[in-house]
Amino acid sequence: MRGGPWFGGDYNPEQWPAEVWTEDADLMRRAGVNLVSLGVFAWSRLEPAPGRFTFDWLDRAMDLLAGAGVGVALATPTASPPPWFSLAHPDALPVTAGGVRLSHGSRDTYCASAPAYRDAARRIAGALADRYAGHPALAMWHVHNEYGTICHCDHAAGAFRRWLRRRYGGLDALNEAWTTAFWSQHYADWSQILPPRATQYLPNPAQVLDFRRFWSDELLRAYTEQRDLLRAATPGTPVTTNFVFGGWVPVDHARWAAEVDVVAVDHYPADPGAGAPEEIAFAANLARCWGDRHGRPWLLVESAPNLIYTGDRMHTKEPGRLKRHALGYVARGSRGAMFFQWRAPRGGAERWHSALVPHAGADSRVYREAVDLGAALGRLGEAAGEPVAADVAVLWDAPSWWALQAPGLPSTHIDYLDAVRAVHRAFWRAGSTVDFAVAGTALDRYRMVVVPNHYLMPDAVAERLRAFAAGGGHLVVTYLSGIADECGRVRLGGYPGALRDVLGIRVEEFHPQPPDATVPLSGGLTGRLWRETVYLAGAAAVEYYTEDGGAEGSGAAGGGAAITRHGTAWYVSTALDDDSYRRLLTRVATEAGVAPAPSGTPAGVEVVRRGRYLFLLNHTAEPAEIPATGVELLTGEPVTGCLTVPPGEVAVLRQPGGAAVAGPPPH
Ligand code: GLA
Repeated sequence: MRGGPWFGGDYNPEQWPAEVWTEDADLMRRAGVNLVSLGVFAWSRLEPAPGRFTFDWLDRAMDLLAGAGVGVALATPTASPPPWFSLAHPDALPVTAGGVRLSHGSRDTYCASAPAYRDAARRIAGALADRYAGHPALAMWHVHNEYGTICHCDHAAGAFRRWLRRRYGGLDALNEAWTTAFWSQHYADWSQILPPRATQYLPNPAQVLDFRRFWSDELLRAYTEQRDLLRAATPGTPVTTNFVFGGWVPVDHARWAAEVDVVAVDHYPADPGAGAPEEIAFAANLARCWGDRHGRPWLLVESAPNLIYTGDRMHTKEPGRLKRHALGYVARGSRGAMFFQWRAPRGGAERWHSALVPHAGADSRVYREAVDLGAALGRLGEAAGEPVAADVAVLWDAPSWWALQAPGLPSTHIDYLDAVRAVHRAFWRAGSTVDFAVAGTALDRYRMVVVPNHYLMPDAVAERLRAFAAGGGHLVVTYLSGIADECGRVRLGGYPGALRDVLGIRVEEFHPQPPDATVPLSGGLTGRLWRETVYLAGAAAVEYYTEDGGAEGSGAAGGGAAITRHGTAWYVSTALDDDSYRRLLTRVATEAGVAPAPSGTPAGVEVVRRGRYLFLLNHTAEPAEIPATGVELLTGEPVTGCLTVPPGEVAVLRQPGGAAVAGPPPH
């Protein structure tokens, strides 16, 4: 993907009369918008009856945007089939695990395994490709929207069985992998296998896990068949689909990243307060690394211009946040910042979602801030392709996340995402940028690798970690990692089965804790949620469980090792609290020789290096004075010795030769 930084958002001209379009083009030009996602939910306006296409309005919109110098990420509208489709093909409506067939009336109401849906999706995508190949506004294809709808219908069952046959070859292997000897679940014929529909008590966890893997692959096939026909029509135009992130999403983005030309990510921080920048860093680091693994750039394609919704109410972003947050993504490699959405709609389910042009119109704070952001992005072109480098990697594994959502685990309080976030937060607070390593990421370029709650561990992953530690890399493994194989079967002989040797320990018992209990450790550290009886088998204890605190399991584990090391392989047998994590990981990072974070910055100022450029985001209400030299890109001013970043503002410094700013560590 050449060019950028890209700036814009979802644009829905089909919701507005012609005079608004003219105003839109003018406002986009004034704001420096150079890319919009067009037609994402426009299927019923593009194909009002089967096979009857009404492209005239889209022609006019494409021409208008081309004239305004705005590129188009043209969507295939397949996330929202029109009413006529659902009525004609009730078998293409999704069925819940409980057997309820959903009705038309919202969006994303389709079954990706239904032949009628797939045929209709290819037909509209093909028609768009034929019509707009070569159009001067066409900059990118945006397939579908946030693949994620799950279905348990008979079409899905058939496709699941075909997927299972490919994965296991024969029923014997499947029965073994799923441990069907338990509770009389042995399958004697493929036709007996169902999606994990609502059942009497706990479902088979391997079946649930495989269904989720299957569904990720099934949705991917729905995407790639559209991608392939778009590529054939427009070989030079990048094709992507926007990833949505969340515990419910049955998509393994790390795998999907191989199939897109740009990793396009939607991100909406859940924390309206001081936690948002860390959430942004987390999402951006993930997106960058999903892309890097396959040599793909990444782009933030959706975020909220103003309001953050926290479940019960919307929170307004205070002045300045729009730009500061957007540049938080750009600092970590995003090729721009795009928003949902350009203009706030008058009606519809998301009539109160924020927009770059709010209900108040262009004479508004939010639009003025959009103009300000557009101008800022326009000055960052020289940094657009610069790499972000990290010495530390955190292992990321969607299947482990899914497996740890299963019922029947030792504790309902274990949350994979929380565990990974805790590690990320520790580095973020220390001012360090981390990478996320996924399957196939070369580990030898890192000095330190952290493996949080990596519950499912295939032999090959354990082997890579072993080789990493054997090569002198500092490996930090936390509880619940390496416990099970890729089918979720527990590895025997003591935990953590796959990594006992490299860690030099053997765990016989674990002791899940009440959610509000504190697990006191030596050295003033504290843990939560979990503790273990750790036997040393070559490793040395670094910190111990202390007797006090009366936590459950203290009789068994009190006084025993809590944190161990075996050469450069460290093990953490509890969920450390934030400060304890920061202390431990800083200690290991120092030993590992991880390059210290850029220093000399006051607390509350985030510093991220992107190649020769330093992004400085002042999240505080005070001006920040930072020792630095170079040129500040947003103002164009030279900086000699000291840079002042105003409260809530951002500075981007081009450094002479890429030297770090001087001074003591930030925290
Ligand atoms: C998602 C969707 C958008 C919109 C926003 C609202 O990211 O892709 O269509 O619904 O959420 O936050």
